[in-house]
Amino acid sequence: MAKIIGAVTTSHVPAIGGAIHRKKQQDPYWKPFFDGFPPVRDWLAKVKPDIAIVFYNDHGLNFFLDKMPTFAVGAAPEYQNADEGWGIPTLPPYKGDLDLSWHLIESLVGEEFDLTTCQEMLVDHAFTVPLELLWPGSCPVRTVPICINTVQFPLPSAARCYKLGQAVGRAVEAWDADARVVVLGTGGLSHQLDGQRAGFINKEFDQMFMEKLASDPLWATRYSILDLVELTGTQGVELVMWLAARGALLGDVTTLHSNYHIPISNTASGLMLMENA
Ligand code: DHB
Ligand code: FE
Repeated sequence: MAKIIGAVTTSHVPAIGGAIHRKKQQDPYWKPFFDGFPPVRDWLAKVKPDIAIVFYNDHGLNFFLDKMPTFAVGAAPEYQNADEGWGIPTLPPYKGDLDLSWHLIESLVGEEFDLTTCQEMLVDHAFTVPLELLWPGSCPVRTVPICINTVQFPLPSAARCYKLGQAVGRAVEAWDADARVVVLGTGGLSHQLDGQRAGFINKEFDQMFMEKLASDPLWATRYSILDLVELTGTQGVELVMWLAARGALLGDVTTLHSNYHIPISNTASGLMLMENA
């Protein structure tokens, strides 16, 4: 049977892709951020996952306001990146895993999640930047992108995203394949890019969120989306990806590593590595 070996949650700011391209990792601005990652890379080198399930949000590259699925699951042999206009390099395609994609889709639809299935899917910085951070140079794992709408209201609730993650966790455990799966959640933490509160960051909430994500993940699911926008900013709601990834671990977890650094661009950047206890 397949096994979930852990979850990694991280922010996904496009400027990080530019810093990697220009080799700025040791610059004073970037160092405290990039220094968070070696322990996670060491862990990945040790546990050797075959596949990464990536909870992320598309920002207008694959889905635009005219067609906006709440939950979309990739079911493609590979996923292309494309220029989003951030001035960062376009990366080579990522390998998919059709067997796991369709197993997840069958299982999630069976659990009454109404999905959009994507046999072609462009992946944006929210997918590529975290994979570059975890596996610099080239991504050795097959991938299954799961995209959650955090762009056009109404958004799925934090509680619903957590339940989606739990359903993914159950599906992987029931998958008759000899595969090791890591679950990623990308987005957040607090940030707001637009409007009068542009630049808004809430360190106190972020730090509580990170602590509770491991010990009491239902804590954050009690907030409505509007509460989360107020507490973390319009784009801070991307933290629902962290709840989905945490949900996939199903039981109690141990936090093996975490990092929190303000700011990266307009964002409070967070990183966590969790394993089943
Ligand atoms: C920034 C953060 C994001 O989450 C994003 O998708 C784009 C930009 C930023 O802080 O610049
Ligand atoms: Fe984002």
